[in-house]
Amino acid sequence: MIDKDVVLGKGVKIFNSDQVNIFGCVIGDNSFVGPFVEITRNTIIGKNCIVESHSFLCDSVILEDNVFIGHGAMFTNDLYPMVGMHVQYLKTIVKAGASIGTNSTIVAGVTIGKNSVVGAGAVVTKDVEDYSIYAGNPAKLLKRFNSKEEIIAYFRSKQKLSEK
Ligand SMILES: CC(C)(COP(=O)(O)OP(=O)(O)OC[C@H]1O[C@@H](n2cnc3c(N)ncnc32)[C@H](O)[C@@H]1OP(=O)(O)O)[C@@H](O)C(=O)NCCC(=O)NCCS
Repeated sequence: MIDKDVVLGKGVKIFNSDQVNIFGCVIGDNSFVGPFVEITRNTIIGKNCIVESHSFLCDSVILEDNVFIGHGAMFTNDLYPMVGMHVQYLKTIVKAGASIGTNSTIVAGVTIGKNSVVGAGAVVTKDVEDYSIYAGNPAKLLKRFNSKEEIIAYFRSKQKLSEK
């Protein structure tokens, strides 16, 4: 279900609108949303983002442009959840070009830095620096680079590009 109040940019691709639960949010131009994703109110997704299947983006999550959200990544917005207690949600920001690994959990209120990578299965409890790689539970710094070009050069040194 995609609620009528959702603001969809140009060229947004939703894999199957019957297999998602999306309401009260904004999804920027040319972004992709896979199946079995829930995106709730007050979430803002930038342009050219990819949100892979089974992920959950909750109230007060902001993705800047070119962000990758791996399969089954989970965001949170309440550090001490309790039935009957309504709190002001903490804002979580994923900066431009960052990638969140499969099955990771992002604890409320953190900022994930520009062009950084969060490893598969990480639990992120603190801010992630720009141009860095974090992994583990709790997520720790594995590597830090000085620029987008440097971190991309590292990725290219680790795996080959495909034809497409
Ligand atoms: C974290 C990641 C980016 C690799 O980063 P890296 O800095 O190149 O890491 P390295 O391969 O040099 O490994 C460094 C150490 O981190 C460990 N490590 C690597 N990935 C890890 C992860 N996801 N969680 C915990 N530890 C991890 C390695 O085992 C190694 O440990 P050691 O020093 O004890 O041997 C990568 O493993 C990863 O998880 N990528 C995300 C994959 C994903 O979710 N893709 C989604 C689309 S399919």
